[in-house]
Amino acid sequence: GAAVEVDISALKPGEKITVEWRGKPVWILKRTPEQLESLAQTEPQVADPKSDRKAYPIPEYAKNQHRSIKPEVFVGVGICTHLGCSPGDRFQTGPQPSLPDDWHGGFLCACHGSTFDVAGRVFKNKPAPDNLEVPPHMYLSDTRLIIG
Ligand code: FES
Repeated sequence: GAAVEVDISALKPGEKITVEWRGKPVWILKRTPEQLESLAQTEPQVADPKSDRKAYPIPEYAKNQHRSIKPEVFVGVGICTHLGCSPGDRFQTGPQPSLPDDWHGGFLCACHGSTFDVAGRVFKNKPAPDNLEVPPHMYLSDTRLIIG
């Protein structure tokens, strides 16, 4: 499939856009400083904090806490690794019914309740077996991203 070029110069902290790549929704989320900090708090709560599992290939640059090249920009495939629903955004913080007590925002799959942090890392004991996929990508410049 063809690579997709995206200009992210207008993306503000806390905003997410979705582009299509190989028929899949790819999310580009510009994380706020608070969202980035939340990843240290979710670290012990997620099943595979460093994306070490081998179920599908994860680029080397995504095998870290923020799962991205630039800490503030998350690029991930918006398809739940359980049965393929598309999780929704839950960026508000604070306790919410039926979500982990100290939920710091992320993504919720409404199909069977899997929750992911803002790096797409799945919380423990959820039906989704893996973190969200990170597609191969690179930066052509500071604000031009190529996916694929
Ligand atoms: Fe997402 Fe089942 S498809 S939790």
